[in-house]
Amino acid sequence: MIPESFIQELLNRVDIVDVVDKSVPLKKAGANYSACCPFHNEKSPSFTVSPTKQFYHCFGCGAHGTAIGFLMEYQGVSFVEAVHDLAKHAGMVVPQTSKDVNKPAPQVVVGLQEALLQAADFYKAELKKSPRAIEYLKARGLSGHVAAKFQIGYAPAGWQNLQSVFQNYDNEALAVAGLVVVNEQGRRYDRFRDRIMFPIHDSKGQVVGFGGRVINPEDAPKYYNSPETPLFQKGHELYGLFMARRAIRDAGRALVVEGYMDVVALAQYGIEYAVAALGTATTPYHVTKLMRQTDEVVFCFDGDNAGRAAAWRAVMNALPALTDGLKLSFLFLPKEHDPDSYVREFGKEQFEREMKAAMPLSQYILQHLSETNPLQSQEDRIRFLNEAEPIMQLITAPRSAMYLRKKVAELAQLSAEEMHSLLKLPNLNKPAVSARPKLTRTTVSLQRRFCLILLMHPSLAAEDDLLWLEVAGVEDALLKHVIETCLTHPHSKPVVILRALENKVEAGVLKELERELSHLDDTLNLSQEFLGARQQLQGFYGQRKAESMLKRLSDKPLSALTTEEIAILKAVGTKPHQNKA
Ligand code: UTP
Ligand code: MN
Repeated sequence: MIPESFIQELLNRVDIVDVVDKSVPLKKAGANYSACCPFHNEKSPSFTVSPTKQFYHCFGCGAHGTAIGFLMEYQGVSFVEAVHDLAKHAGMVVPQTSKDVNKPAPQVVVGLQEALLQAADFYKAELKKSPRAIEYLKARGLSGHVAAKFQIGYAPAGWQNLQSVFQNYDNEALAVAGLVVVNEQGRRYDRFRDRIMFPIHDSKGQVVGFGGRVINPEDAPKYYNSPETPLFQKGHELYGLFMARRAIRDAGRALVVEGYMDVVALAQYGIEYAVAALGTATTPYHVTKLMRQTDEVVFCFDGDNAGRAAAWRAVMNALPALTDGLKLSFLFLPKEHDPDSYVREFGKEQFEREMKAAMPLSQYILQHLSETNPLQSQEDRIRFLNEAEPIMQLITAPRSAMYLRKKVAELAQLSAEEMHSLLKLPNLNKPAVSARPKLTRTTVSLQRRFCLILLMHPSLAAEDDLLWLEVAGVEDALLKHVIETCLTHPHSKPVVILRALENKVEAGVLKELERELSHLDDTLNLSQEFLGARQQLQGFYGQRKAESMLKRLSDKPLSALTTEEIAILKAVGTKPHQNKA
């Protein structure tokens, strides 16, 4: 259980405007921000985000909530996942267990972000000063342009170079950020020394960590990465994703490779949609993160055995995140190549051709399972089935699962029914969980929406509004009462108007209005929305009137209609009654 106090602290620290804006670009509208609602289809914006209340609210569909609620609904993640995601960006550590409830304040490290940024700037400047580092990058074929794009730097040799950057080298933030290591004697020294530095950015473009490569081939380890920090979890970040965002959208696909150098080299050769997992296996987080940006992901692994093992781990981690719309494929390079060397030798076109011919996920799974299994004897087929079962259990995307099951059954020489009676497989009839916004929602009626705006701005009500209005149902009656009351209370607060409505409108309806109002901000400027809403309502009533008139006319016997009325009916394609005199 995450303590309530932590949730409050977290919501105090994040700004819902930033959170929403990352997924749904917002426009400033008075004191608030607005956009077309991501949770239902609409053409004019009725979705608002209030920076003062830290809430989002949609007039059209009633969607409403905090930054946490937004992430849950928009990304289809759980409460706990949303809290972790937000906490990461706020530099807070989520207390893990209920034991932690007794701990006083959540661990917040101030200045992490700034420290990392300053270090990145320092390393970048140091690269310019180091002919040896520049020479190394040149020898590897890197252009100055691409080095600048990836903000590549150099951490000079020496133990405490960062002392020249930070006034207080003992600052806790430097240690927490992983820039400084504190040894057992309490002595502090720079983590990265004499290494080419690759800054790692999160999806907002902020530096959250570094990878550092040795220049001397004898030094080890070849790559040294920032440790996990409140801002940086290796299993969550992808190297190059921030820089690749646009290209991923333009190309309609993302390419996942193994190394920093692969990402950089591919970008230099015009394949700018590549990202790399940071020396870890591809995680479900990685896959989910990529799926938010594209429906097609190609995994490209080095041709060696380590690459093949990494590819299979990626499959196992991708399966739970798989949806039917997603296309995953696997590209295996010749043994002696990695993407860096391959693109340098054969160029962009050849690389992209290889990508087009990459092996689809299902084929790869089947190939992997039957690689070491001749499927000749009954024992072979049982082993095959045993190995396929856990894989099939991970896939819940109905179509993908169905086709794979069919194939597996075929290879095991069983009918689908026989296989089902043998194995425990997930039920595919449940609707798949989708990471996309859901579009099903009951919408607030046009009348209700207009009432809410009037309650907030009663002086906008006009006598004329009573003319186009036609009372046929409860919602119309409500609207009429609200307009009338606003006309007599043009400068009252919403509560006063609600009270004045008490003996005219059902208590339940007033409660609903009150609840809707409590979600809105006092400073919300709805007057801009007002004219549009009025026009929409007028249109609605106009059409309703026209329809009922036509119905009345078409119900009349032909003989009772005037020539003009017959012409109207003909014009709208309705046949007048022929029978009856
Ligand atoms: P590679 O050894 O394939 O790296 O490791 P690379 O990017 O091709 O390196 P170059 O071309 O020799 O410069 C792939 C990734 O694994 C992680 C790094 O993220 C690296 O990019 N790694 C590798 C480490 O974290 N530590 C290591 O010692 C080696
Ligand atoms: Mn390499």
